[in-house]
Amino acid sequence: MAATDSEPLPTGAEKRQAVRSMFDAIAPRYDLVNRLMTFRMDVGWRNRTIESLHLPPGAAVLDLACGTGDLCRGLDAAGLRPIGMDLSFGMLASARTDAPLVHADALALPVADGSVDGITCGFALRNFVDLGPFFAELGRVVRPGGRIALLEVAEPPNPVLRAGHGIYFGKVVPVIGGLLSDGAAYRYLPKSVAYLPPAAQMLADLEAQGFFRVERRLLSTGIAQLITATRA
Ligand SMILES: C[S@@+](CC[C@H](N)C(=O)[O-])C[C@H]1O[C@@H](n2cnc3c(N)ncnc32)[C@H](O)[C@@H]1O
Repeated sequence: MAATDSEPLPTGAEKRQAVRSMFDAIAPRYDLVNRLMTFRMDVGWRNRTIESLHLPPGAAVLDLACGTGDLCRGLDAAGLRPIGMDLSFGMLASARTDAPLVHADALALPVADGSVDGITCGFALRNFVDLGPFFAELGRVVRPGGRIALLEVAEPPNPVLRAGHGIYFGKVVPVIGGLLSDGAAYRYLPKSVAYLPPAAQMLADLEAQGFFRVERRLLSTGIAQLITATRA
């Protein structure tokens, strides 16, 4: 996925295949680059994500697009029962977690209706081909009263911070990624924010799929966002 500035971002089946190949390629050094490029802030964001579920010990939680298993480990440590699912065999093979792992598409879950207490999903919304089927699957598989917590990057609302953030993610992160991993992948990652629909639309779409108490919090001045909701 070596998209240049002028090339359009891929869509549909082309995007699904490109995302899968990209994560297969960067899997071995994914955790290292993540920690470096976020100055370890990603660790705190994941903890907030897990806490925001407010689920009791033993609750069954799917971690969708689990990647190398960071959220699964945190869920486990919090006394919950995670199952990780991801599309990339490379990410699953690099995962460091005791949680069961399943190769599955988050847009077509191999899970029965209303069968899970909660769902987490970290930094994957912009990688999905379409958020409509993803939100529909959340509404289908979470039991009434169950919780979801979706963590994603964001752009700070403050214009000065947004400009600095744009330079960092657009210029510095691709260099770090290029030195330690795959430059093309880390040039794509900042651009992939363009796939995210406006926040208000995501919140409205979740309500339409049967969720209430749909809330969005900005983290670390708005460079990340956490969307939480309860299944009606
Ligand atoms: C940026 S990584 C995030 C990994 C992990 N959640 C974390 O917090 O570090 C995005 C993950 O989404 C996965 N992914 C992309 N599209 C997917 C899909 N349709 N179904 C399941 N996983 C998908 C990728 O394979 C990759 O592991």
